[in-house]
Amino acid sequence: MDKKITILGIETSCDETAMSVSTCLKTDNYFEFEILSDVVASQIDLHKKWGGVFPELASRAHLEAMIPVLSEALEPIAGLAGFEKNIGAIAVTREPGLIGSLLMGIETAGFLGNYYKKPIVDVNHLEGHIYSAFCAKNQNSQNENLKLTIPTKGIFPILSLVVSGGHTSLILMKSHLEYETVGQTIDDAAGEAFDKVARIMGLGYPGGPIIEKEAQNGDEKVYDLPRGLEYSGDFNFSFSGLKTSVLYKTKDVKTQKEKKYDKKDMAASFQKAVCDILIKKTLAAAKKYNPKTVILCGGVSANGYLRERFRLELRKTATRPSVLIPPKNLSTDNAVGIAIAGTIRFLQTQK
Ligand code: KG4
Ligand code: ZN
Repeated sequence: MDKKITILGIETSCDETAMSVSTCLKTDNYFEFEILSDVVASQIDLHKKWGGVFPELASRAHLEAMIPVLSEALEPIAGLAGFEKNIGAIAVTREPGLIGSLLMGIETAGFLGNYYKKPIVDVNHLEGHIYSAFCAKNQNSQNENLKLTIPTKGIFPILSLVVSGGHTSLILMKSHLEYETVGQTIDDAAGEAFDKVARIMGLGYPGGPIIEKEAQNGDEKVYDLPRGLEYSGDFNFSFSGLKTSVLYKTKDVKTQKEKKYDKKDMAASFQKAVCDILIKKTLAAAKKYNPKTVILCGGVSANGYLRERFRLELRKTATRPSVLIPPKNLSTDNAVGIAIAGTIRFLQTQK
């Protein structure tokens, strides 16, 4: 039987306060979504001078942004006045993330849920990144709401490479929201490596977009950098050796003086080293698990060089899986993916 629901998604796990209202019609074969709002208040400027996210400041900034973001997200349903009538459930990022930041979203969801008597659906932050990738297809004109169709079956197994500031994981999904982690970083996350290397090179925060820009005019063959766990035979990652190698090539460790090196070439060589290993491990996992769909998502998937190479190399594989990558604005933290994942979880539990 067809089911229709409108859900409010809330994401506050790190340094973005994000909310989205989405409707979904579930038929036997499809989830048909329409994204009514997608609001993100970023704290990047606040954390710039620390070279990374300052947890206590992040929680306070979430608190300040909460009401304005909520008001804007609810505009398509006539604000709080339309909440009771229109919203069927509230999806919120429960974990993982900074505890103070997570609590801001969880408390907000809890209050709204209590007041309006609406169920709360817990979403894992990584599920949000994965489901953001379904927004890759069916992009329509700028002025219309984004509409997307997610099949209920026939797209599995899905292999997802989630690469963000906090995670580097290969996740294998057998059916909607039923999954296992088949590989992950044993130290730094890929985005964290971008941020730390940018800091070592004095480039600013967040490191990913800045390194990508520097790398555009650099020669990726100039510096020989390590690819962690390249021959480990598993699907795990390691980026701390790569980061340390950049440190030794750019600074005299004893005197802390900067060595002579080319920033653009270093950025390009580093970016290639990260992307080489991300792609190599994804290809190896794809060979083992034969996915019908491969997803690249999370903040680092905003990287143009990675997007292009990932798509190209995955398409060359024997089984030719379909490759989904979110649009760049939905690669980084957002509530659209949280609303989508929350809706699917909610509808699956409603028999
Ligand atoms: O997914 P996200 O917004 O937050 C977390 O869940 O961590 O990811 C943020 C990370 C940061 O480390 C940032 O440097 C990285 O994504 N990032 C990029 C790019 N844009 C953002 N890394 C490489 N290239 C980019 N263009
Ligand atoms: Zn994230």
